[in-house]
Amino acid sequence: MASRPRLKQADFARRRARLLAQMEPNSIAIVHAGFPPVRNRDVEHLHRPDSDFLYLTGFPEAHAIAVLLPGRPQGQYVLFCAEKDPEKEIWNGLRVGPEQACAEYGADDAFPLSDIDDIMPGLIEGRSRVYHALGKDAKFDRRVLDWVNLIRARVRNGSQPPGEFVSLEHLLHEMRLFKDSGEIRLMRHAAQISARAHVNAMQACAPGGNEYELEAELLYEFGRSGARFPAYPPIVGSGANGCILHYTENCARLKRGDLVLIDAGCEFDCYASDITRTFPVSGRFSRTQRALYEIVLEAQAAAIEQVRPGRHWNEPHEAAVAVLADGLRALGLLKGSLNRILRDESYRPFYMHRTGHWLGMDVHDVGEYKLGGEWRELEPGMVLTVEPGLYVAPGQKGVASRYQGIGIRIEDDVLVTADGCDVLSRDAPKTVADVHAVMAA
Ligand code: GLY
Ligand code: MN
Ligand code: MN
Repeated sequence: MASRPRLKQADFARRRARLLAQMEPNSIAIVHAGFPPVRNRDVEHLHRPDSDFLYLTGFPEAHAIAVLLPGRPQGQYVLFCAEKDPEKEIWNGLRVGPEQACAEYGADDAFPLSDIDDIMPGLIEGRSRVYHALGKDAKFDRRVLDWVNLIRARVRNGSQPPGEFVSLEHLLHEMRLFKDSGEIRLMRHAAQISARAHVNAMQACAPGGNEYELEAELLYEFGRSGARFPAYPPIVGSGANGCILHYTENCARLKRGDLVLIDAGCEFDCYASDITRTFPVSGRFSRTQRALYEIVLEAQAAAIEQVRPGRHWNEPHEAAVAVLADGLRALGLLKGSLNRILRDESYRPFYMHRTGHWLGMDVHDVGEYKLGGEWRELEPGMVLTVEPGLYVAPGQKGVASRYQGIGIRIEDDVLVTADGCDVLSRDAPKTVADVHAVMAA
């Protein structure tokens, strides 16, 4: 197997330097890794630190807190993390510890979390602006306010509390929106793993099986490829379940004659993939299924065609909608002129979601979609999904029964390049001929 792509400490250092250069001179940024979820009374479930925190630090532990201080003479990057503790480490695993955090993760200073209430007010004091993701986590907001209030309580002694709280997201998320070559390598790798998982699920699919068996195939391929977490809960919807956009029960029998819609992607080294394929349980599309499927496939091709620098965010969506609406009209599922269907949005009972979203460390990744009230232009380095679909709910009025209960979506991960785009998830088969061939193999 090819070697695992990885980010290096220099990548994180470069990101911190870029953010520090954009921060106000007399400011401080505080970024939290997050708290692990506790479930089943007292079990800490697996936790993957917050994406903003990971983007800046690469530091793998929950609870840790990164602080950036532009112009601080003793060093601009301070990290708080759990102290080494041989007894606790016997139970819960090794910790990096503050000392190694400097050596291995590039912190200029690192302190035990247990000392944070003594140290943090001193770091904030005298800085006029605090960058903090207010509203993301109420428990952490409270802690930040407690530190600030400690400073406020000492104003008569000359302490200077900050006057301004500003969201860090504005600066940081614009950085995260543009992927560099190291990030693209990870995202391509994630997409390749997910594509293999989709192929395996297609080949494991047989009438009489169950949706959860296909889910297990996906998770097995992710896990054995070193991608332990899915980027979101897999959707394995057969038959009419394919019409439920975020179906995750994944426990129905697979019936000959039905389609299965699988929307599943792994996360590799904290970068997401997000792929949907729809295929026949029996391995062969029926005429009716194929008629709808070919419309979605054509809509996706039309949308991908619009992914290039200079096109705005909504152009792929507009292209997909035009093809979907025209196809529905040709099949007699929609009446009237194409212009009227588009104007009235009468296609919405069959296509009620948008054609994509930014993709990166988070599946629905950060980044603005509009700038100054207008759809923003696509630029090289952005990654988005292109995921048109058609959903004919059971019992949909005025629709021939043969179409009812068919849900189809085709989703790929697409990188904007200098002169067009690159489909990172291209290895997942999607033409009718390729799906037939893979399932027959
Ligand atoms: N899997 C979630 C989405 O496609 O947006
Ligand atoms: Mn998806
Ligand atoms: Mn998606």
